[in-house]
Amino acid sequence: MAAVGSAIGLGNVWRFPGTAFNNGGGAFFIPYFVALLTAGIPLMIVEYGLGSRFQGSAPKAYSKLGKKFEWIGWWAVLVGLFISFYYCIILAWSWEYVYYCAKGIFTGELPWGRGEAGQYFKEIAMIEGDGTSFAGFNGKAVAGLLATWLVVYLSIAKGVLRVGKIVMITVPLPLILLVMLALRGLTLDGAMDGLAYYLTPDWSALGDANTWAAAYGQVFFSLSVGWGILIAYASYMPKGSDVVNNSYLTSFANCGFSFLAGFAVFSTLGYLGVGLNTPIADLQTSSFGLAFTSYPTAVENFPGGGHVQAFIGFGFFVMLLTLGVDSAFSIVEAVATAMHDKFGADRGKITIGLCVVGFLMGLIYCTGSGLVWLDSTDKFLTDYGLTLVALVQCLLVGWIIGDKKFKDLQDNINGRSEFKVGRFWMISLKFVTPAVLIWTFYSVVTDILANGYEGYSKFPLIVFGVLPALLVLVLSFVLMNMKGVDDVDAD
Ligand code: PFF
Repeated sequence: MAAVGSAIGLGNVWRFPGTAFNNGGGAFFIPYFVALLTAGIPLMIVEYGLGSRFQGSAPKAYSKLGKKFEWIGWWAVLVGLFISFYYCIILAWSWEYVYYCAKGIFTGELPWGRGEAGQYFKEIAMIEGDGTSFAGFNGKAVAGLLATWLVVYLSIAKGVLRVGKIVMITVPLPLILLVMLALRGLTLDGAMDGLAYYLTPDWSALGDANTWAAAYGQVFFSLSVGWGILIAYASYMPKGSDVVNNSYLTSFANCGFSFLAGFAVFSTLGYLGVGLNTPIADLQTSSFGLAFTSYPTAVENFPGGGHVQAFIGFGFFVMLLTLGVDSAFSIVEAVATAMHDKFGADRGKITIGLCVVGFLMGLIYCTGSGLVWLDSTDKFLTDYGLTLVALVQCLLVGWIIGDKKFKDLQDNINGRSEFKVGRFWMISLKFVTPAVLIWTFYSVVTDILANGYEGYSKFPLIVFGVLPALLVLVLSFVLMNMKGVDDVDAD
């Protein structure tokens, strides 16, 4: 349940529909499914397998495969940690919406006013700078950020048992809320036009490496694969828990949620298109726009008047918060477990330290240029960083550790699982995924070098994209080479 909570997050509502929208709508399903079946699920099986086999965090599990591989585990969790710094900003905005919608329940006024959701979001996210200067400071977002890290801390401070209880709320509640929103969306005028765009393939997008990179990136982001989280979570499972079944269960629950979110978003987009008399493909909507503009506009159309609408808006943003919190704390758990494994330090203290660092790092994105910076980090850490981690994991398990250790891991996984992994799993890990990832990686990097990204200047891309991506890599080697408790014992 906690792994499902980690997987299902903002990525399903904010990133999936947005990524599909920008990559040919329905055509996106093909690379997405290929990525899911040949990369997402096989790697999830590897991560669950490593965690249950070696009973520890990502760095510990990788160091058991070979001492010199420990950095890969650190790299995975650190990429994740850096992503959580900006991920929590999106949650910070959501707190503001929750707060103002709660007020609206009493006043009967929606915080964004009729037809003004886009403008309102600009104010909430304080979109002012072009990424080259601070361009002001968004005090309200800081309050939201503080609330987010406080909740993250409280959720995990008391250990895995509390996590188990919290996810009993944070997993089913957003599902109920999303079903309501999808049902409402589907009954709006123009909904079918939106769904047609969502589901009709635009084949030309398939020849574009960017589409494939986006699909793989989305699968890794969404399933929480490549973050080292699932390794830590699997180590908490009772001995003998089924690895393969759990992987399929987590993946399908997660992807089902994404598709449903797509229905809610695209039906609403169809409605917007009809209202504005604009074809859906021409609706200039960023990924954030989908969650923070389209959904609020949908809420505006719920029957029952302002009080009810504000109540539903409140429900929607509570959904975003409950979706995101269990994803955010899963990465903190993964890093805390890693540090505890390595340095034997007190978990409580590590957790407080990580939450404070997370809050401080998040302040960078509370500036007027925050959104440009956030987008730059998202591009480099998620689309490139996470994908690269996944590629290295594939190469390591598929090739570098050798046939004997590979077979050993496979036997261990099969020994715990009702459905066995065999040739398809092996071929995906060894050939298909590395080949696709190397191709997309190469093409996408050449593309960004030639054409830049979103018209951003070099400054944000280098400082908030390239630099953190390199920093986490350097840090993972530093951490690997630090003396750990096991090394002390060995002396
Ligand atoms: N799987 C999450 C999502 O789709 O929103 C993303 C995520 C965020 C995973 C933060 C892990 C994490 F620590």
